[in-house]
Amino acid sequence: MNSDEIRTRDRAAVWHPYTRHSGLERNFPVIEHGDGSYLYDADGTQYFDGIASWWCCSLGHSHPGIVDAIQTQAGRLQHSILGNLSHPPAIHLAARIAALLPSRPRHVFYGSDGASAVEAALKIAVQHWDHMGQPGRHRFISLCGAYHGDTLGAVSVGFIDAFHHSFAPVVFDSYTASAPCEGVHGYGLEEHTCGAACLGTMLNLIEEHASELAAVIVEPLCQGAAGMVMYGPGYLSRLAECCAQHNVLLIVDEIATGFGRTGRMFAHEHAGIDPDIVCIGKALSGGALPISAAVVTDTIYDTFRDDEQDRTFYHGHTFGGNPVACAAALAALDAYAEESFWTRLEHNSAILGEALRGLLSLAGIVDARCLGMIAAVEFAAPPARMHADLVDQGILLRPLGNVIYLMPPLNTEPGILESVVATFVRAAKAEAGRQRG
Ligand SMILES: Cc1ncc(COP(=O)(O)O)c(C=O)c1O
Repeated sequence: MNSDEIRTRDRAAVWHPYTRHSGLERNFPVIEHGDGSYLYDADGTQYFDGIASWWCCSLGHSHPGIVDAIQTQAGRLQHSILGNLSHPPAIHLAARIAALLPSRPRHVFYGSDGASAVEAALKIAVQHWDHMGQPGRHRFISLCGAYHGDTLGAVSVGFIDAFHHSFAPVVFDSYTASAPCEGVHGYGLEEHTCGAACLGTMLNLIEEHASELAAVIVEPLCQGAAGMVMYGPGYLSRLAECCAQHNVLLIVDEIATGFGRTGRMFAHEHAGIDPDIVCIGKALSGGALPISAAVVTDTIYDTFRDDEQDRTFYHGHTFGGNPVACAAALAALDAYAEESFWTRLEHNSAILGEALRGLLSLAGIVDARCLGMIAAVEFAAPPARMHADLVDQGILLRPLGNVIYLMPPLNTEPGILESVVATFVRAAKAEAGRQRG
């Protein structure tokens, strides 16, 4: 079957996520294999994976350690549930994950996609307060522009009008605090990005509603789907302090930011905080297989122990903690444990940072920001051609409103990254020129 025939068959049967039907009328790449930072389509065209396949393939494609772990585990046990049973990959992985997080002992509740980790985290928080004799604590505070996935609970705390307006009648009410630094742009972690006014709305909401709050949920340091809106660690540390002061749980959604993306293993490490629940997914398996988790302190876990009362968490997904996905994640954690991974990450982050800094003062560009291996350029209007031009030059990207961003595999070979970034910067300058008119 040639690639036109494959596309015809696709159009007849596949419903693509986040894709306008009209966008499928032109020829779209049909990806056949991946290797390192590149994807290859059915015609043999090579594409640099500029968004790490929706921010998850942090170790690139066909990582040998991950492929080997998947193959070995697949030959032994492909699936077995975690309800009243266990299996070694889930056990070893949970211990490894818990050890990555700050001091307190934790338990790992597995999901499959990021949204399933978020759903579990929200329900754990609500049920925890019920067990504590405070069933009135069932509401959440989230940030304006937050995104935590597309299931209804996640949408209730991460409502993005452009994506979710049809669902307004069916989501539950939550409180929304101003986005950090709303209206103030900055660069990476520079603390001036953290205006006190935006923090004030959050702190006021916590103080005012503490007795009805189950938790506050935030994307740490970078609100991805909002357009890679970045904020400083000062906001997070003051938020954590305020939550602790008012006995409100803090859920940190590290699904996009975890496993090195911001330059540290987890973004919240920049703020030195110890969240009650940490959601992880995407790069947990190096993006190779779907696995996610809500990682919960034992202070919370222990309230689910049954004595005379049944306190079971009646929640689960069939494939949560799938053994092959756990094996992939264990191999990914091995890769993240290597010093060479962090050396390259630091080097690559500097390449991105330097290149983006050069765009900051250009007319037509509202902001250029960078945090670890997330680089975003914000224009005054949605870029008309930049995205398509870059795809034509072999760099796969997706636009986000007025923002075009690069979120490549973290271990990209530096020479390749330099050349991709140079192309990206040239395209951004051309777009800025077009927008200036
Ligand atoms: C911060 C954050 N949380 C949750 C999700 C949802 O993850 P998934 O698409 O795997 O359900 C995403 C996805 O982009 C995300 O960026």
